[in-house]
Amino acid sequence: MKGRLDRVIAACCLLSRSEAQAALKAGRVTIDGVMTRDGSVKTDTEAQTVLLDGKRVAGDGFVYLMLYKPVGVLSATEDKKGETTALDLLPECYRRIGPGVVGRLDKDAEGLLLLTDNGDLNHRLTSPRHHADKTYLVTLDRPADESDEAAFAVPMDLGDFVTQPGSLKRLEEGRRCLVTIHEGKYHQIKRMFAARGKTVTALKRLSIGPLRLDESLMPGAWRPLTERERTEILKK
Ligand code: URA
Repeated sequence: MKGRLDRVIAACCLLSRSEAQAALKAGRVTIDGVMTRDGSVKTDTEAQTVLLDGKRVAGDGFVYLMLYKPVGVLSATEDKKGETTALDLLPECYRRIGPGVVGRLDKDAEGLLLLTDNGDLNHRLTSPRHHADKTYLVTLDRPADESDEAAFAVPMDLGDFVTQPGSLKRLEEGRRCLVTIHEGKYHQIKRMFAARGKTVTALKRLSIGPLRLDESLMPGAWRPLTERERTEILKK
């Protein structure tokens, strides 16, 4: 990230501007090994080594969070009726920034939710032209069979749109399946199974493009993306 040092530190370290200025005044910031108290100097975290308390100030100034959305929580960022939203599960410092949700999940679905204030990335991952693959663990009322596998592998006409070929892999005799789709239309997986005469009884998103749900996260828990995850997802 490039810009005034105090703004860069505030954005990358999730501090308020006055907290960043206090850290600078206290001599906790170095640029290429030289202590710098002047918040107005221009910096570039890619070209220079900027440290706060000895730790690299990195990133591009955007917030990238992975949340394990539990069943019952809306994947919106606000709800007029006061229902719990994904944003309510984050601490205040992130709520203030107001990251957007990348690709919604139904209220009764759970799993990987990516939240970011990087609008370009959000657009890229959700636009039909870029179509990041999304993989779900699906539980059905009755087993999927070979004909369902074949039907998911070719375009499926859902009335208002035709899907791109996806994939269905049966687990445990077909009651549970791994399904990968390329778009993210409203209720898409439920509708695809309904078209096959089956009902989805549970749905969990496992991945969006290269980003996988961290299985050590409990429902409702979140964490920032690692440097590697951020780099991978930004390549999409
Ligand atoms: N497909 C659905 O039916 N629901 C989701 O939440 C995601 C994909």
